Amino acid sequence: MQRHNTVVLGASGLVAQRMQQRLVNHPWFILSAVVGSERTAGQPLSSIPWNLSEPRPNLPQMTVLDGLEKNLIERLVELNVTVAFSCLPSDVADPLELHLSKAGIAVFSNASAFRRCDGVPLVIPDVNANHMSQFGTGGHMLACATNCTLIPFAVPVAALAATFGVEGLQMNSEQALSGGGYELLLDDRAQEGHHSSEILGEAHKTSAELLHVLGVAQNSARESEDENEIHRAHGAFEGCSSHVVAADLDVDVTCKRVTRSDGHQVFVTARLQRPAEIEEVQSCLEEHAFPERLQACPSAPLRSLQVVERIDPLHHLWADGERFSQAPNPSTDLKAGMAVVLGSLEMIDAQTVRFSAYSHNTVRGAAGGTMLLAEQAYIEERLPKQQ
Ligand SMILES: NC(=O)c1ccc[n+]([C@@H]2O[C@H](COP(=O)([O-])OP(=O)(O)OC[C@H]3O[C@@H](n4cnc5c(N)ncnc54)[C@H](OP(=O)(O)O)[C@@H]3O)[C@@H](O)[C@H]2O)c1
Repeated sequence: MQRHNTVVLGASGLVAQRMQQRLVNHPWFILSAVVGSERTAGQPLSSIPWNLSEPRPNLPQMTVLDGLEKNLIERLVELNVTVAFSCLPSDVADPLELHLSKAGIAVFSNASAFRRCDGVPLVIPDVNANHMSQFGTGGHMLACATNCTLIPFAVPVAALAATFGVEGLQMNSEQALSGGGYELLLDDRAQEGHHSSEILGEAHKTSAELLHVLGVAQNSARESEDENEIHRAHGAFEGCSSHVVAADLDVDVTCKRVTRSDGHQVFVTARLQRPAEIEEVQSCLEEHAFPERLQACPSAPLRSLQVVERIDPLHHLWADGERFSQAPNPSTDLKAGMAVVLGSLEMIDAQTVRFSAYSHNTVRGAAGGTMLLAEQAYIEERLPKQQ
């Protein structure tokens, strides 16, 4: 199988470096170029500060390209690049991702700029892999990963919805500092707890993307009066809470930042459409799986959901579906940090399930999840031909 030359958009960012880390030994993709901001462009990649806690991997020698350079596309075409991994802030992603995808480079994005746009699949492969069929239909090859908080929420909910049906969801999140990028993660005051617990806009994004990946018609979604009140109080779509009613599903989400380096945890109450026994619920969660064709993806975890008695955020961060490595090498172990861990499972009444779920936000929730989309496109032969 031929490997694809790839570019990472972002040099020093947490997600960009996770992506560089995963590309060093990837069997299907090669790190051929890195595009940076004016802070890093023109510098050797080896001189860019490494912001992850694992040692810097043996990255190829290269100079960081300038995202604003006029002949950027020509440079990437010369390098035979067919795939781009975008790890940019949304406002920067907006013009650059379209520019690259229109030039025939397949773009897989962590940014929110094109999420939920027509012709742009927004995919979690163990929730809505079939949405990838939209790839390339909007005149450009662009696919997006979801918000990182959605992963531990949507994966178990999709499992429950498929077996029992779900009519109501209430979720509270506790999100790590790394979710706010390297400046927040490396801020000593933030690490001591001096940071805002608010994450503006997050709850709205999470609910809207949940409805999208579950295939609940967006047009029928309407914000409830409660939500409008919340939004009025916090500014339109910038609140920390969101209450959305769409079709037959009522979704109530509140997001907050906590003082932890990595890992987003969610606390969920789900109202099922029919009564269930706890044993059935647990089997349904444990048996939830990636579509068979995607199990060969190097980044697919060994199991989608790893059920434990109680989540320990430090111990369970690097779940691969079977084990919890305490010191993984993410450059060689592409499955570590890719499973969702689920704990504290209980039935509140015959139709109401409560649980907590957890996943690595910059791995499964960002670089690993986005790479998984490219792996899916590779397996499904959707990528441009590599010369
Ligand atoms: N952190 C998470 O858990 C997480 C999860 C899911 C999705 N995301 C999304 O992933 C994206 C990156 O997040 P992050 O946490 O990695 O942020 P970050 O640590 O703050 O890094 C920001 C990145 O953006 C790059 N950048 C900024 N302006 C640029 C420009 N004009 N041209 C080229 N590159 C530019 C920076 O490149 P330089 O290094 O060259 O300055 C840097 O690599 C965001 O859209 C974020 O919402 C993040």
